[in-house]
Amino acid sequence: LEGPETVAVIFDKSSTRTRASFAVGIADLGGQPLIISTANSQLGGKETPSDTARVLERMVAAIVWRTYGQEGLEEMARGTTVPVVNALSDDFHPCQLLADLLTIREHKGALAGLSLAFLGDGGSNMAQSYALAGATAGMNVSIACPAEFSPAASVIGDARAIAEKTGGSIHVMEDPAAALQGVDVVVTDTWVSMGKEDEKAERVATFGRYQVDAEKMALASPEAIFLHCLPADRGFEVAPEVIDGPQSVIWDESENRLHAQKALLVWLLERA
Ligand code: CP
Ligand code: NVA
Repeated sequence: LEGPETVAVIFDKSSTRTRASFAVGIADLGGQPLIISTANSQLGGKETPSDTARVLERMVAAIVWRTYGQEGLEEMARGTTVPVVNALSDDFHPCQLLADLLTIREHKGALAGLSLAFLGDGGSNMAQSYALAGATAGMNVSIACPAEFSPAASVIGDARAIAEKTGGSIHVMEDPAAALQGVDVVVTDTWVSMGKEDEKAERVATFGRYQVDAEKMALASPEAIFLHCLPADRGFEVAPEVIDGPQSVIWDESENRLHAQKALLVWLLERA
């Protein structure tokens, strides 16, 4: 960062990794993190995202925001001169994907041509981000989910348009075994994303057959790695023997949030 610049990091939802990795990363770069909880700020009740951003842009080099609706982030980005980073919305978690792709590259080499299966909530921020980021990286991404929890048609359309240019591919299916055949990378995420807590019982019943256990892991390549953005619910979306087993790279993955976001901030602020 140029001089002692401040970066605002705003949270409408809970966080451990995103909060720690942005705070440490901004400090590592010589800047100062300004962590704001929406619960005790004016945003989210008394003030619009763009008014908040117009105030912050006079004081900070960038705004990082974890929120619910994607449209709030887009409204903020349109209404301000500083970069706005999505630190997770209901629809996407792009910072996590930067870290995940870095982790896959560290363990598997070049990303293009690798195959990846995501099992679970296909409409979640993680599955939708895997469709877009996997396509961008030229990967072959299969998302196995119940039909009523499929990724948005617009996201799949965008991902397929990207994949046409990169040589990647995107497949959505209901059968987890079909998605897993010989893949290089297996991924899952919570069945109950933040904001969906009221649907927990119904989701646990619907997603049961998508749990990544040792039997399902055995359908992937013997050299496959397992990723999970965390926090994890052992015994629900993943069995303990998989997430705590030899194929799991979750701790590298969570550390890579720090490295990937530092690179993102440098890249954004050099352009700003
Ligand atoms: N993976 C992730 O974003 O974790 P937090 O919710 O703890 O930030
Ligand atoms: N899909 C999860 C990711 C948490 C980092 C959620 O939105 O709660």
